[in-house]
Amino acid sequence: MCQPKILIVQLHYVLLFLIPQVTVDAVRTYEEAKRLRESLVNSMLKPLPKDGKIRLVGGESESEGNVEIFHDRKWGSICDDEWDSNEGIVACRQLGYPGLVKVTHNSYFGSASKKFWMDNMLCDGTESKLKNCRFDDWGRHDCNASEAAGIVCTNPSAQNVTKKIRPRKKIHLIRNKNSQLRLTGGNSIYEGQVELRINGSSWGSICGDGWSLLEANVVCRSLRLGYASAAVQTEYFGGAKLSKLMLSGSECRGNESSFFDCMFDEPRDIKCPGPTNHVAAVVCSEKMSDLIFDHLGLEQTAHLEDRSLYYLQCAMEENCLASQAYVVRKENPNWHYETRRLLKFTAKVVNTGTDDFRSYIPKHLWEWHSCHMHYHSMEVFAVFNIFNDKNETVAEGHKASFCLEDNQCLPNVKPKYACANFGDQGISVNCSDIYRFNIDCQWIDITELEVGTYTIKIAVNAEFKVPEQTFENNAAVCTLLYTETYARVFNCHLERP
Ligand SMILES: *[C@@H]1O[C@H](CO)[C@@H](O)[C@H](O)[C@H]1NC(C)=O
Ligand SMILES: *[C@@H]1O[C@H](CO)[C@@H](O)[C@H](O)[C@H]1NC(C)=O
Ligand SMILES: *[C@@H]1O[C@H](CO)[C@@H](O)[C@H](O)[C@H]1NC(C)=O
Ligand SMILES: *[C@@H]1O[C@H](CO)[C@@H](O)[C@H](O)[C@H]1NC(C)=O
Ligand SMILES: *[C@@H]1O[C@H](CO)[C@@H](O)[C@H](O)[C@H]1NC(C)=O
Ligand SMILES: *[C@@H]1O[C@H](CO)[C@@H](O)[C@H](O)[C@H]1NC(C)=O
Repeated sequence: MCQPKILIVQLHYVLLFLIPQVTVDAVRTYEEAKRLRESLVNSMLKPLPKDGKIRLVGGESESEGNVEIFHDRKWGSICDDEWDSNEGIVACRQLGYPGLVKVTHNSYFGSASKKFWMDNMLCDGTESKLKNCRFDDWGRHDCNASEAAGIVCTNPSAQNVTKKIRPRKKIHLIRNKNSQLRLTGGNSIYEGQVELRINGSSWGSICGDGWSLLEANVVCRSLRLGYASAAVQTEYFGGAKLSKLMLSGSECRGNESSFFDCMFDEPRDIKCPGPTNHVAAVVCSEKMSDLIFDHLGLEQTAHLEDRSLYYLQCAMEENCLASQAYVVRKENPNWHYETRRLLKFTAKVVNTGTDDFRSYIPKHLWEWHSCHMHYHSMEVFAVFNIFNDKNETVAEGHKASFCLEDNQCLPNVKPKYACANFGDQGISVNCSDIYRFNIDCQWIDITELEVGTYTIKIAVNAEFKVPEQTFENNAAVCTLLYTETYARVFNCHLERP
């Protein structure tokens, strides 16, 4: 942004000398002089980008990077909460690419260097521009620099470029007694940046790209230090100055018993994406929460209800309906009388771990939801989705933020967390938080769904943002049988979100 400013200053000087002459020669009135001057200025100044224009930064090729959007004369980042393929498709379309390869989270292409303009984006995938999607207001967010949203778009012209950009091959590491793992730079043995040596090499650290609680959990497990309470990309423990970078692109499923079972980018000319050399680090803890979704409760309570939009206005404000409902509201003056068909169910989440489950957003940032008269502490706590037999999403899954509390505890456990009166939010060990089918947003809007057999998936803490012992039991996956008159959910099992 510095360059154009200098240009403006210089232009003023130029115009002072230029305009009087023009006035004498050709222009009669002051108004005309002013107009001429304006058009001169406009033609010579580089115009600011249009509001809502987007660009990609930090990628290795032009068709990948963290997404930045221009608004109010400034570029800003986009937060990765609720950032997934619908949003990515719209971003690639707006940039003129034919499609999306994948979306990225956790500042995959480097820490966000600009303030966040957008958070909790919700596109239906048909929009031509990101700014036409729903999102929290401009500049409203609760994200930090390691939560930038990014994309990789399909780029047909990239193949012809002489320097081909091949996707990095993923590899397994050599596993033998000369391959080791350690944490360094921390104040205790439970924290530090992750370092490893492979087959007797010198010790090296790992790029922060894609570093999440899934990878961090495997590191803590490998070192027998319990579970990860934080996965950070940082130079706090010494950074790339302490040990040279050895690997990038870590990818663990989360259930590996050794970090050497995870996948990494083929190690050639390691370069961390983004401007900073923040490396992967963890904080481990012996005690940890572990949420399990009560899938039997889901089977027992799932049922249909038809409801008019008049009674769903609060729910619309919280994005709990399919996007067709918003079209109806916009286009039909009698939209109040239109009905939506909802698949309702009770969601019960039990903490079977050894520590409380605490939401990750600090209390002063909790949002007051006037419609529902309580604070939301966790932006996306649960995700509801319905897939067809081709594994395509058919009923728009929505994402629910909740107020977390102890609704029901084992006999010897005293409930501690309560939502009322700005109370502390969380789920104690051996307590459950229950969202009964009769509360707002506790449903999937299936108005546009055809009758048939589907797969339904309900996942909690699905973005792996709050640490847990394991994420392998955070989602219930079941069969949904939907006929003209009733719906049944059965055959549930637990898996990773
Ligand atoms: C960013 O926020 C996440 C979630 O609250 C937290 O785990 C992480 O430590 C934060 N990172 C920085 C650099 O503040
Ligand atoms: C790339 O090559 C293909 C086929 O060789 C061609 O159709 C396409 O127009 C080329 N694209 C560019 C940008 O040159
Ligand atoms: C490990 O290192 C040894 C000694 O440098 C070498 O002989 C061996 O081939 C290496 N193993 C692998 C799998 O690369
Ligand atoms: C991890 O989970 C996957 C998918 O369920 C499974 O195929 C794999 O065997 C598991 N790995 C371990 C080490 O348990
Ligand atoms: C369904 O799609 C998801 C991603 O959209 C993928 O992770 C999953 O493996 C797919 N499942 C099957 C059975 O193909
Ligand atoms: C939770 O319940 C389990 C099983 O009843 C018990 O072993 C454990 O000690 C309980 N934990 C706490 C903190 O109450």
